Amino acid sequence: AIDIKTLRSSTGMITLDPGYKNTGSCESAITYLDGEKGILRYRGYNIEELAEKADFLEVAYLLIFGELPNKEELDQFHEDIKHESQVDEEMKKILDAFPKSAHPMGVLSSLTSALIAFNPSSVNISSEKEMYHAIIRIMAKFPVLVAWTMRKQKGLPLDYGDDSLGYVENLHKMMFKRPNKEYVKNKIVIDALDQLLILHADHEQNCSTSTVRITGSSHAGLFVSLSAGISALWGPLHGGANQAVLEMLEAIEADGGDTQKYMNKAKDKDDPFRLMGFGHRVYKNFDPRAKIIKRAADEVLGDLGIEDPILSIAKGLEKVALEDPYFVERKLYPNVDFYSGIIYRALGIPTEMFTVMFAMGRLPGWIAQWREMRLRGEPIGRPRQVYIGENDRPFVPLKKR
Ligand code: ACO
Repeated sequence: AIDIKTLRSSTGMITLDPGYKNTGSCESAITYLDGEKGILRYRGYNIEELAEKADFLEVAYLLIFGELPNKEELDQFHEDIKHESQVDEEMKKILDAFPKSAHPMGVLSSLTSALIAFNPSSVNISSEKEMYHAIIRIMAKFPVLVAWTMRKQKGLPLDYGDDSLGYVENLHKMMFKRPNKEYVKNKIVIDALDQLLILHADHEQNCSTSTVRITGSSHAGLFVSLSAGISALWGPLHGGANQAVLEMLEAIEADGGDTQKYMNKAKDKDDPFRLMGFGHRVYKNFDPRAKIIKRAADEVLGDLGIEDPILSIAKGLEKVALEDPYFVERKLYPNVDFYSGIIYRALGIPTEMFTVMFAMGRLPGWIAQWREMRLRGEPIGRPRQVYIGENDRPFVPLKKR
């Protein structure tokens, strides 16, 4: 439904479109999305094909620089990243100061912001060379921060990566390597993780990406713009939904597995409960990422020999929802987050880390969007408002109030 209004103000016409449901904020050549047809393309390439044939680092290069890299370009990109993979040792003290119970998204956002203090040359970016350097730095250091965030929560020592490994394998090793135990690569796990990261890598002007662009539009640096994006992603209506979905499925299981009961709650307008992982601002047919993830969940759990009752509850809930007039009329379909948590869980990633993994996947998308915004010389983002408050009141001294 279009509920856009155009209002007159003292400075001219203002378009009032809460939630920017029908308002474009920029022109972009990065991601194409057709919500009616369920199409998602990065730089013109279908998500289904990229998820099957490319790896995450190739997709990151594609999103950021606009073309699929050839072998030489990809190797150079990876080499440059490896060169920057150290994080200042002082950053460990910041991490140490957080309580172990701190939510990983709060920790990740703070660490990403803190990085700038140790890399001051990445603050003011005025040339493409400086831009490239800042991009490489964050592509290199972010997986370390992700891994440290999880290791902190688990009380494991903080380590650095292994330059001989691929980007995603290195991330996995940094997250899961146990002291005094050899790390053994599991190809099924690495491939599944790689695919999940690709599926999350960009999604045009969503809440967190718009936050990155608008923060960066003041010419604040890349790292702090990303930190703002991480904070925006955290909310349960956005990336935080993956954690919320799993908690919801666990609650349904603990409550006897009655999916209809939760469907009824979701439809009850007096109940704030929403079916997490359902609905999307733009997809009104299906979320193509959800289709791929649903299939991957089946495959990964099968390959790893895991029988998870949560998967059956999710499938049951989907079936009931797809036949329910409330969901059908409102075009509410499973989104990317409905099945992703089930795979993360099978890969041994703790529930509170799910949104951090989303942020890891979204990193190249945020970078690409920030870079595009800067290279196009976009003006500072500054929406208007329609004022509805009190007008011109005489001041009342404290004693008389
Ligand atoms: N459960 C129950 N009802 C829902 C749900 C849901 N998950 N989602 C939307 N609705 C209903 C609303 O109550 C509203 O009903 P009404 O017309 O009777 O008032 C109608 O569907 C439209 O919903 P809006 O909230 O207006 O749609 P909007 O585009 O603003 O929100 C959103 C989209 C935030 C994704 C919403 O569907 C939602 O809250 N979903 C659950 C959270 C979630 O899964 N978020 C992840 C999104 S994907 C991502 O960010 C990666």
